[in-house]
Amino acid sequence: MTSFEKVKNLKGTVRVPSDKSISHRSFMFLAMAKGQGRVIDPLLSADTKATMAAMHAVGVEFTETVNGFIVKSNGYKGFKEPTDVIDCMNSGTSARLLTGVFAPTNKYFVLTGDESLRKRPMDRVIDPLTAMGAKFVARDGNHLLPMTILPSVTKPVYMEATTKSAQVKSAVLLAGVQTEGITTYIEKAVTRNHTEIMLSALGAKVQTDGLKITIEGAADLRSMDIVVPGDFSSAAFFLGAALMFENSELMLENVGLNPTRSGMLQVLKEMGVKYEIDNERGGAEKLGDIFIQSQSIKGVTVEGDIIANMIDELPLVATLGLFADSPIIIKGAKELRVKESDRIETTLYNIKQLGAQVEEYEDGMKVYPMTEINDKAQLKSFGDHRIAMIAIMLAKRFGGDITVDDVKCVDVSFPTFMETFATLEQK
Ligand code: S3P
Repeated sequence: MTSFEKVKNLKGTVRVPSDKSISHRSFMFLAMAKGQGRVIDPLLSADTKATMAAMHAVGVEFTETVNGFIVKSNGYKGFKEPTDVIDCMNSGTSARLLTGVFAPTNKYFVLTGDESLRKRPMDRVIDPLTAMGAKFVARDGNHLLPMTILPSVTKPVYMEATTKSAQVKSAVLLAGVQTEGITTYIEKAVTRNHTEIMLSALGAKVQTDGLKITIEGAADLRSMDIVVPGDFSSAAFFLGAALMFENSELMLENVGLNPTRSGMLQVLKEMGVKYEIDNERGGAEKLGDIFIQSQSIKGVTVEGDIIANMIDELPLVATLGLFADSPIIIKGAKELRVKESDRIETTLYNIKQLGAQVEEYEDGMKVYPMTEINDKAQLKSFGDHRIAMIAIMLAKRFGGDITVDDVKCVDVSFPTFMETFATLEQK
């Protein structure tokens, strides 16, 4: 149980950690490419280390450098069969994407994960990959980890998505790039497109036309150097903090601004929030610096296709309802129920502990502005890194005797969260 001193406001410049999604993909995709490439400025967190360990288990070499890793591989055709179980730990991205990477290799794999990951659905990748001819045996009716991937030869497919998930899309594209012929995947809504951008940079023929993505297999991927930008999802906590802590002023540097990830910026505008983006740069993956100051915020309803472009920021945006002039409502976000925790339930649990009024829906939530605060609230992280960071911010904002039960899980995406936050605090 950790308690926190009240913080008045936050001032300064933050360089947020590197992007988790892009770091996973850099390690995985350079491992699938033949030759030697570099990942520069990757995120080294519990999750991305799980991906590196998995690729190491199939024979890929990682050599640490001053600012990242050299990745040396014989390519996906040269993967060796692992001699032990692959542990994806807490990482849904590792489990889902690796299923797509390994299923077409005609080898035998066993994937597992920690207690939280073993509760999260894997049929969402098993089903489409089975349609491609891959073979699996997974716990609980081919639904949960541990999962066995059996040797098989895959065939290309034309398929429509059944979930709005970048992980599922990526699994299909990663199998598609290894499978002779053209694989087509039709999304239900545009989800983060880091996989398409990176596979194309590595030499794969990937085409996007609205919701339709096609990929040509069996491509030879050529290695390259990849520079990982800052994680918008980590920067989001500071955007939120500037709106929670009065008289704050923050400059967030080197933040990834891919529009399929940064939907929260659009919602902030609808909330009447003014921020500045400076020094916009980059190629297919845009990045820039964001300047934000404390200001009043309006309540909004967040729904529709934008949900997929801010899926990891929804608990934070809902929490901002406490500080808005009217409730914040999230709708059409049932996916939140199958994240590292049930993020509708866990977000609302902490807000209710603080004494605020909420409404829970099957696919969303409503958070009313704070009137009276319970300054003895016992907040919980539920082992979920994003819920932990929000709880820590609320405890620092309100002070008193508010505690958070377990904060170690921030290591999953933002190992230096506490230290970074402390450099900005004015008490
Ligand atoms: C991710 C996709 C999202 C997101 C997760 C990372 C990715 O999951 O919530 O944190 O890197 O592709 P879904 O694809 O399940 O929405």
